[in-house]
Amino acid sequence: MIEPQVLQRQINEAAAYVKSRLPLADTAVVLGSGLGDFPDGLSERSEIAYTEIPHFPQPTVPGHSGKLYSGVVGGRRILALSGRFHYYEGHDPQTVVLAVRVLHQLGVKTLLLTNAAGGVNAAYSAGDLMLISDHINLCGYNPLRGLHCAQWGERFPDMTCAYDKELRELARQVAKRHDIELREGVYCGLAGPSFETPAEIRMLALLGADAVGMSTVPETIAARQSGMRVLGVSCITNMAAGISPQPLTHQEVMDTGRAAMGRFITLISGVIEAL
Ligand code: HPA
Repeated sequence: MIEPQVLQRQINEAAAYVKSRLPLADTAVVLGSGLGDFPDGLSERSEIAYTEIPHFPQPTVPGHSGKLYSGVVGGRRILALSGRFHYYEGHDPQTVVLAVRVLHQLGVKTLLLTNAAGGVNAAYSAGDLMLISDHINLCGYNPLRGLHCAQWGERFPDMTCAYDKELRELARQVAKRHDIELREGVYCGLAGPSFETPAEIRMLALLGADAVGMSTVPETIAARQSGMRVLGVSCITNMAAGISPQPLTHQEVMDTGRAAMGRFITLISGVIEAL
């Protein structure tokens, strides 16, 4: 567990470095597996590698490039993080949400979180996009555990409307305008990195989950604590274990993510433009 003063110093140092290198923005996107091409569509683009940013770990997962971009899309400047820190990579919970806290420190007010997820709802298909209406935290930890620092926000943040209602309505309108079918459901976050068993997926369905993944939930919790508005969108890259008879692979996650990327980029760019 990192002491709060030490953590706040790390946040300050990372934020100061980013500020010295990139034009800032009030909107940021975290790019999940398979949204790797999103930065190609940014104009007036500049980038820094996570290895350059003080205290940022290097992502270890294929499909996450480990770069922070600043650029313009839909007439709006944004920051885009290609690569996130997962608990299953061995990071402690505070490091999992370090980038979100750095974004807050940099003045980001709206955070778009994207991810790859397994479809738990049997009506879904691989390749679907799902607006996250709410989440279930089964990660096994809460990233806010530990001594508190007032700069991060409230000690006991409200999570009643974790995924902003207005942003969701905006996303529905953008999807409709571009003829993109958009599911809406509950994302359940688990620690990973093994995929779930069919019995676990049956349990998650009973609990009310529509999709399952290994990210996003801690980031949403930290972002809400700091008062950011959050939009979450999942790309259903595979049907969860036992729903389809095929075994799951990271390759399938990457391949379906790639196939859905055009729609996903259109949706996220459209939302940014409409903000
Ligand atoms: N389970 C958990 N995480 C995932 C999955 C899954 O089926 N697909 C993509 N991320």
